[in-house]
Amino acid sequence: MDLSTEQQAILRGEKGTLLQKCMQTLVKYGDFFNAQKLIPTKSAHLVLSGGSIILRTYLGILENMTAEGIQFAVPTTVNPRLTMEHLGIVQKIAQRYLFQKDNQFRHHFKKMGGIETYSCTPYLGDNTPQQGDILAWAESNAVIFANSVLGAKTNRNSGIIDLISAVLGVTPLMGLLLDKNRRANWEIIVDAEEIDYAVLGYVIGEKVKDGIPYIKGLHSTADDFKNMGAAMAASGGVGLYHIEGVTPEAVQVKDALLLPDCQTLTVTDSLLKKVQENLGHGRKKVKTVFLGCPHLSYTELVHVTKLLEGCRTKKGVNLWMNSSPSAIGKFNQSDYFEEFEKTGAVLMSLCPLAFLQLPSLRNRWILTNSGKLRYYAPVYYAPLKECLREAVGGDING
Ligand code: F3S
Repeated sequence: MDLSTEQQAILRGEKGTLLQKCMQTLVKYGDFFNAQKLIPTKSAHLVLSGGSIILRTYLGILENMTAEGIQFAVPTTVNPRLTMEHLGIVQKIAQRYLFQKDNQFRHHFKKMGGIETYSCTPYLGDNTPQQGDILAWAESNAVIFANSVLGAKTNRNSGIIDLISAVLGVTPLMGLLLDKNRRANWEIIVDAEEIDYAVLGYVIGEKVKDGIPYIKGLHSTADDFKNMGAAMAASGGVGLYHIEGVTPEAVQVKDALLLPDCQTLTVTDSLLKKVQENLGHGRKKVKTVFLGCPHLSYTELVHVTKLLEGCRTKKGVNLWMNSSPSAIGKFNQSDYFEEFEKTGAVLMSLCPLAFLQLPSLRNRWILTNSGKLRYYAPVYYAPLKECLREAVGGDING
């Protein structure tokens, strides 16, 4: 690999043994994928947040870094925290055990200059890349949104590579950072009237695996693309999609983004309906409805509040909604907050997936409108309005 003078000095250990190990790891990683050089990044977003007991090694690395005074080289944001207040006593004890290192993580992250955003949707305002920016992110829903909707460039890195790139401020030039690897090998024709974006993402991810889809027939909002991308990145390994006439590269390059030998999939209403039913099949009495995986945007918080106006969650059912601390801060100041408080729903900023590690929540009584959560956890899927009807035990507005 062709390294700069400064990178070679770090590799020789002139800036300490820990940064030397970081550089050795990044160079080996890049060499494995035939990267020719390391290039500067604009920002980092750490996926391994919180102090779960299964992250001891990771926390040990952070501790060693702060002991050596190592700082993040680029603006660095972080995924949701994993602890919450709204728990029964048994759950609280389990939470304290599972996530006992939470304060330790926060301490090291802050000391290294991290920005305490605690959300998996940094692209919605906390850390929003521009088109063409080179990033080294790991959170899959953030990677796919940054690449596809914003036209930034990042690979789907692992949690450790993500951390190493954050302290070195560089990443190997390879994979999705190269234009030649951003062309689509799947043409997806959406021929449907009623589109459930989480289900559509689920269908596409399952079909294209780690391919790149070029989707025709969609014109929707950033929130829909957020929820579609998260599901696609979970049911498949997709890190980038294009939407004809909508996403930046598809607008610029048009159909030339499609590889000549691409495969084709047509998505119809009946296919979406069938998959939607499968994802919710076998649902029992719902105890908890989880929204916000990925975190709800401010616009989605307002939308849910309007749908719930005049309604209240039914006894014995939790409606737990996750959003970023920054979106919640804005929402709390808005005219909608007073109405929201009457609904009985609870706002929080955690990651439902991590939260489901709590033994008492590991059951089949959870409903979500998230394709990603449905893929990774033993929960049932239903579209947003159905989730809300279940939570209030009756009709909603709209
Ligand atoms: Fe975010 Fe956790 Fe879902 S990090 S995308 S809320 S699994």
